[in-house]
Amino acid sequence: MILAVPHEDDSDERRVALVPETVSRLAKSGVTVRIQRGAGAQAAFLDDAYEKAGATLVADLAELTRDADAVATVGRPSEALLATLEPGTVVVGFLHPLGDPEYVKRLAAAGVTAMAVELIPRITRAQSMDALSSQSNIAGYKAVLLAAAALPKFFPMLTTAAGTIPPAKALILGAGVAGLQAIATARRLGAVVSGYDVRAVVKEQVQSLGATFLEFDLGADAEASGGYAKELTPEQQERQRVWMVEQIGANDVVITTALVPGRRAPVLVSEDAVAAMKPGSVIVDLAAEAGGNCALTVPGETIVSPNGVTIIGTTNLAGTLPYHASQLYSRNLFALLSPMVKDGALVLDPEDEIVEGCCIVRDGNVLLGGSPS
Ligand SMILES: NC(=O)c1ccc[n+]([C@@H]2O[C@H](COP(=O)([O-])OP(=O)(O)OC[C@H]3O[C@@H](n4cnc5c(N)ncnc54)[C@H](O)[C@@H]3O)[C@@H](O)[C@H]2O)c1
Repeated sequence: MILAVPHEDDSDERRVALVPETVSRLAKSGVTVRIQRGAGAQAAFLDDAYEKAGATLVADLAELTRDADAVATVGRPSEALLATLEPGTVVVGFLHPLGDPEYVKRLAAAGVTAMAVELIPRITRAQSMDALSSQSNIAGYKAVLLAAAALPKFFPMLTTAAGTIPPAKALILGAGVAGLQAIATARRLGAVVSGYDVRAVVKEQVQSLGATFLEFDLGADAEASGGYAKELTPEQQERQRVWMVEQIGANDVVITTALVPGRRAPVLVSEDAVAAMKPGSVIVDLAAEAGGNCALTVPGETIVSPNGVTIIGTTNLAGTLPYHASQLYSRNLFALLSPMVKDGALVLDPEDEIVEGCCIVRDGNVLLGGSPS
């Protein structure tokens, strides 16, 4: 079986789908890994290390994918890459299929079989494959570092000869994987941290990290099946917005991580809330890519509001820590793909819950949601 790893198409993407450690593990399972030259360089994985791990290094894209059974990427494969693939080749990566049926149709037109890692079901057996979690964890950590660097204040309380410095106050909105890591990181830096989520079930997790859980009565727990959040009703959203203005105004740092899969991110930080914050305060919006949790966020940019609040809308925060982001993602891919390697071939069992969940195109047929459309 041949597994090909191209250089990522997006010039801002520093991650690579497979790292040398995984290449040698795959080689032991009889998988030949081909890596496009320089694919790991921006993540600090050089061609030499891949060669030592047993990979074949290839410069040309068509040569990379010739007779390949599978292609692993971080982001969406480029049109140029798709054009080189034989029908039936398995493509695996963050394909962002939700809300973009045109793109899914393009994958189908290429005749490939496509697995979207963000749709891997969050069942116990799939925990080691959970690429959304491994990358969110990194984003939550990095968001706090960005906030600490931008804040014109210390995070920790300091007692100095020149007097005492009070600790910074940080509010984390959304306490999923990224939010919990942000809470833990902000606590380690010494801030006084509070967390909020519509899912009441996370209260204990927030408290166990030493943060206060903010409670606002929505009328009913807003958790849907599968561990994800439901969308709130317009009335619930308005009440939440007004309450939120007060909470946000009392903090130096707000890190927002609230997402509802397949939908625009909810706006939790209104213009009024930004106006209620003190000059010099910092908002890091981890939902920038999904439209933003802050009304003023500009995806991909850092702006300063008229009252002096820095709003950081950096997208792909996981990609700014490319070494460990690639390492963890690569391990996720190994956990996903290695059980499917049988007698030197990649065998996708359509009855398997994991394959059913993440396989969006099978041999050119659209299957999004597990059923043909
Ligand atoms: N294998 C597993 O069992 C597994 C793996 C990973 C995650 N999970 C569960 O799934 C949960 C969500 O994971 P995620 O981090 O990918 O979530 P996510 O990135 O989809 O969302 C981030 C958080 O935002 C919250 N949110 C959504 N709308 C909100 C609003 N209006 N106001 C405040 N908060 C809002 C969500 O409840 C969630 O906690 C995890 O906390 C965990 O419990 C389970």
